[in-house]
Amino acid sequence: MNDIDCSTACSVADLSMQATSSAGAVRILPANVRFSVEPGESIVDAVRRIGYRTRYCCRRGGCGACKADLVAGTVHYSVPIAESVLSVAERREGKCLPCRAHPVGEIVIRLAERDRLRRTFGFINPASGDAGR
Ligand code: FES
Repeated sequence: MNDIDCSTACSVADLSMQATSSAGAVRILPANVRFSVEPGESIVDAVRRIGYRTRYCCRRGGCGACKADLVAGTVHYSVPIAESVLSVAERREGKCLPCRAHPVGEIVIRLAERDRLRRTFGFINPASGDAGR
């Protein structure tokens, strides 16, 4: 039996470890908003950059408030996430922590039932081409 180390990366498909700092993109459900994530930027930081908010608290992987479903794709964690915040079982079920997760390529996440994408600014950076539906 293979031991799976989910401390740095998890995929819905294979839970394989991958390390990357390249840019990615995320589509957030159920709002169906897609935007790019810069290299080294977390999903929550990218959400904030384009003028939205989701549910979060600590923004450092310590509370679990931002927990979401990784519907498609793979995320990478540049720092280890405590088992008490995101267990291996949860990772296998497709949960992720957007405040610490970096997408590997294109991913899709679904916010928790109690969460929603809220717009905080009345504009989007027109140069970015982000937040298209
Ligand atoms: S906001 Fe605390 S773990 Fe993500």
